[in-house]
Amino acid sequence: MKSPESEPRGERRTFLRMAAATGGLALVGCATTGAARAGHPTPAGQGDGEAEVTPGEDLMQEHGALERILLIYDEGVRRIEAGQALDLTVLAGAAGIVRRFVEDYHERLEEQLVFPRLQAAHRETALVATLLQQHQRGRQLTDEIARRSGAGASAELAQTLRSFVRMYRPHAAREDTVLFPAFRDIVGRSAYRELGEQFEDKEHELFGEHGFENNVAEIARLEAALDIGDLARFTAP
Ligand SMILES: [Fe+2]
Ligand SMILES: [Fe+2]
Repeated sequence: MKSPESEPRGERRTFLRMAAATGGLALVGCATTGAARAGHPTPAGQGDGEAEVTPGEDLMQEHGALERILLIYDEGVRRIEAGQALDLTVLAGAAGIVRRFVEDYHERLEEQLVFPRLQAAHRETALVATLLQQHQRGRQLTDEIARRSGAGASAELAQTLRSFVRMYRPHAAREDTVLFPAFRDIVGRSAYRELGEQFEDKEHELFGEHGFENNVAEIARLEAALDIGDLARFTAP
């Protein structure tokens, strides 16, 4: 279950971590809205401390990025089916982010650090099996989207985009509401914190210090190219 004292998602802060040669860890924090997603605990005695980004929160933020890609795919489908102009390089760009950030990073974390712990604890094993199958199918669909978006707008491309969206909305929603809470349940507090560090190390290794923010910025550029970047335009009349 989500703990009531969970950190609100408003402000992000940058922490520069400096690991001493001895293995000691020093943390220097500076408040910077919109900067790096930080998950490092503040050492005792430094201010009132910065709440950590937990593994579950980390993964759910990535689902938020994925959802924005699904909205890009939705708009791609809508334009293809309405016969409207569509820059297919936008879809190819979105598929590239799915490959690099969702499949090769986010899902790898799930497959290597989350699912095995649930399987070992005999928790949500049927769900894990389905999620794994969907990861594999998702990769095939991403290959198809990349290939088809290079060959012009087509009903087949629209159908492939639709299949991807249809699979991933329930996939991510089930992970958010069932899988991640179960994962949090079986992992002790210190191991959970340690996993948060591992998640962040992996993100930095693959994408650099601002990996999450850079991917979100790229998604925002793709949204803008499709004219769906202004959130206020989604406000119901
Ligand atoms: Fe997943
Ligand atoms: Fe996921």
